[in-house]
Amino acid sequence: MKKKKSNVLAGLVLASSTMAMAAGAQAADPAVGQAHYESTCVACHGPKGISVAPIYPNLAGQKEQYLITVLKDYRDGTRTNPIMAPMAKGLSDTDIGNLAAYLSRIRD
Ligand code: HEC
Repeated sequence: MKKKKSNVLAGLVLASSTMAMAAGAQAADPAVGQAHYESTCVACHGPKGISVAPIYPNLAGQKEQYLITVLKDYRDGTRTNPIMAPMAKGLSDTDIGNLAAYLSRIRD
């Protein structure tokens, strides 16, 4: 025969993670965007979005909606550039949202 265990703790964990999911499902995460940025984009656009060479634009503090629009434009081919377009090809909408959330919040 099984011993009856308390499910109170399990219930609390479930409730709080459900709430976190409900709150965070659509919200862009700047911290995730920063990690992504620093793993890829930093090579050209530079630390904290200040670029390392004249041919690369600064991205720090750019408007969030503009960043989302332009990254989708590169991804779908509406805007073309032989260097940047391939960078946007593999990005999901979530990636783009997170990157834009990070870059638009950089202030110095
Ligand atoms: C190999 C270098 C390189 C890498 C890596 C790179 N980019 Fe770019 N990026 C460029 C160049 C060059 C341009 C300018 C393209 C043009 O003139 O349209 C650009 C343009 C952009 C723009 C448009 C800026 C504006 O003012 O319109 C955004 C946004 C951008 N990049 C974001 C990113 C993000 C996010 C990543 C990482 C996922 C990334 N880039 C990785 C080279 C790069």
